[in-house]
Amino acid sequence: MSLKRKIIELQKKREKVLQGGGEKAVEKQVAMGKMTARERIITLLDENSFHEYDMFVEHEARDFGMATKVLHGDGVIIGTGTIYGAPICIYAQDFTVAGGSLGLMHARKITKIMDHAMKLRVPLIGINDSGGARIQEGVNSLAGYGEIFYRNTIASGVIPQISVILGPCAGGAVYSPALTDFVFVVDKISKMFITGPEVIKTVLGEEISMEDLGGARVHSEITGNAHFFSESEIECFDQVKKLITFIPWNNSKKAQPFESIEPKIDQYKIDEIIPGNPKEPYDVRDVVRAVTDDSDFFEIQELWAANIVIGFGRMKGETVGFVCNQPLVLAGVLDVDSSNKAARFIRYCDAFNIPIVTLVDLPGYLPGVDQEHAGVIRHGAKILYAYSEATVPKITVILRKAYGGGYIAMNSRHLNADFVFALPGAEIAVMGPEGAANIIFKKEIMGAEDPDKMRKQKVKEYKEKFANPYVAAAKGYVDSVIEPEEARKLLLHAIEVSHSKVDRKPIKKHGIPPF
Ligand code: HXC
Repeated sequence: MSLKRKIIELQKKREKVLQGGGEKAVEKQVAMGKMTARERIITLLDENSFHEYDMFVEHEARDFGMATKVLHGDGVIIGTGTIYGAPICIYAQDFTVAGGSLGLMHARKITKIMDHAMKLRVPLIGINDSGGARIQEGVNSLAGYGEIFYRNTIASGVIPQISVILGPCAGGAVYSPALTDFVFVVDKISKMFITGPEVIKTVLGEEISMEDLGGARVHSEITGNAHFFSESEIECFDQVKKLITFIPWNNSKKAQPFESIEPKIDQYKIDEIIPGNPKEPYDVRDVVRAVTDDSDFFEIQELWAANIVIGFGRMKGETVGFVCNQPLVLAGVLDVDSSNKAARFIRYCDAFNIPIVTLVDLPGYLPGVDQEHAGVIRHGAKILYAYSEATVPKITVILRKAYGGGYIAMNSRHLNADFVFALPGAEIAVMGPEGAANIIFKKEIMGAEDPDKMRKQKVKEYKEKFANPYVAAAKGYVDSVIEPEEARKLLLHAIEVSHSKVDRKPIKKHGIPPF
């Protein structure tokens, strides 16, 4: 056969594979409002940058009628490409081919591209759209999942791992996304659960729809399993692309620098954002926008545990991770969920060389039986552990309240913060003035002719003496009391002088964080 004919033969073979599961299955996919696996990859990556591998892989299953079944690409597409020029390894499960179910060869393709990502030290993106373990392949499917989970774990903290859930992701399959760094979901399209509605009905007699059990909103607002929520696949891919611009390709690099644009200072003025009355709420994200380049803030897990705000911004073109109490929600208290959210993000930034800026305004840990019984001791400890362990530059600005355990937990000097600044309105104390005065001046208040008047006087006395930043500044726990307009300049300086920071911890195999 001439080379020309061989080329034509190759082209025909390729065309067949490109049809995925065939016209009907593709129509069904589109009718569900979903793109096909190939469309997703093309939309996400830079134009003409995608190169596919293992296109002609075939399954080897023989039981349950599988011997005669042709499954193009075995239901998954793998390859390399770029996003804004950043190299990427990617896989996308093709639901049109046997429901994107995971058989042995399907799993081998995924583990192959994961191994590539690790060798090349580039981010890995997995697009999940699958009915789970391929039932006809039995234990081989389970083995395949296990090998993916193992690689997810080994790659954790070495290369960024991103999971995009664009269809069902059920059973044990959910544990691969759970082991990755960022999970993206799309409203009405993403579904994640360990056991589906049918099993729940059989075992527990409870009835629930797939959407209410494990839809995109559930994982964005209730469980915290998802980090980014969007209304459409296109919006979701835009978010993935934006994330890629903020993170480094691997743990030995810094994120790509960007052009520095000054914040929109006419719009965001810290002294106008933060009310003088410590009980009045405000949106801490506006304070972030007052210091970041172009006032841009890329928030993560926006809809879950909103009493803490986490996300990326840039300062003089460099990526910075922000961890901030949110006075708008529950006065910014720390609780089980917010501690988990912050601790994980701190560890992410630390693993990937991203300096952390912490903005503090909180009344402490949330009291209550629910929190105690939900394990706030263990979960609350995670944030202490994460800050203490982190060796990237760690800078704190105390905006207003910093009471009790919350003061310590939010990257205080005592957890080895590099720089601690406080605004003049900061109140650093064991607890709020009202609570403190009621306890330590109880006798004077009860014994007074006018207890209310005495209480007010004692609260005033306490405020003057302790509820300010100067007691902590006098002891060197706060490095500088600063004016609001100085915040960006000082943060930039602190980051700049920390570029060659060295913070070596004792050699150990690993610590035992309060998981
Ligand atoms: C083999 C599967 C499959 C699977 C779907 N298909 N899931 N084939 N193994 N797990 C096939 C269907 O037979 C069908 O093939 C095609 O994919 C499309 O499926 P439909 O059911 O027609 O699609 P839809 O109505 O949209 O329903 C999607 C679905 C449903 C909700 C995902 O298919 C479903 O419930 N599948 C089973 C889910 C499941 O229980 N998986 C195992 C989880 S346990 P044809 O040829 O008709 O087009 C697990 C363990 C992992 O994953 C453990 C790791 C530790």
